Amino acid sequence: MAGRIVVLISGSGSNMAALAEACRRGDVPGEVVAVFADRACEGISRAEGLGIDAHVLVFKDYASREDWSEALRDQVLKYEPDLVVSAGFMRIVSPVFVDAFPNRIINLHPALLPSFAGPHGVRDALEHGAKVTGTTVHIVDYEVDHGPILLQAAVPIEKDDDEASLHERIKEREHRLLPLACRLMLEGRVRVEGHKTLIEEA
Ligand code: GAR
Repeated sequence: MAGRIVVLISGSGSNMAALAEACRRGDVPGEVVAVFADRACEGISRAEGLGIDAHVLVFKDYASREDWSEALRDQVLKYEPDLVVSAGFMRIVSPVFVDAFPNRIINLHPALLPSFAGPHGVRDALEHGAKVTGTTVHIVDYEVDHGPILLQAAVPIEKDDDEASLHERIKEREHRLLPLACRLMLEGRVRVEGHKTLIEEA
């Protein structure tokens, strides 16, 4: 049976769309059953165009991060997800959300963690003068951009790169890395031991 995937987004949703397409092709044994955003964004109309249930829970409409996280948790739980994927979701969720999906939330970050954590991973790597950056998929714990690393891919920084050109190349890489991470998770091949993940060979 196809694993049920819920995707959290805040932006263009290109990774969500790449994941939905990988599921459709049969590269991932799952289905994107719903998309949630914390703001109106391009990714929501993209999800609707793909025939996926899409919801916006505007962060500022709630009295606190806790209230918003609880509302998001309750809405996501209705979809009974096997996997929750944060793909360009630019909000920090409270532990009440994380606790509802233990070791079943993964986050995509546009840098090689633990370098350049935080909301400006691409810009920070560029400004630091790094020669290589990349992308990370990790399991979500209570700390931002911190949980056990599942997969990483390197992307060289070219000398005439700006934030947009570099981010575009990182995203191209992410569009393949994220589906692979979802496949490993849904096939039950990922074991978490402390801060490490162990991936079972196929
Ligand atoms: C992706 O590059 C993802 O790694 C990044 O946002 C982009 C979303 O693109 N995530 C973060 O910066 C999280 N801190 P998309 O909306 O086109 O999938």
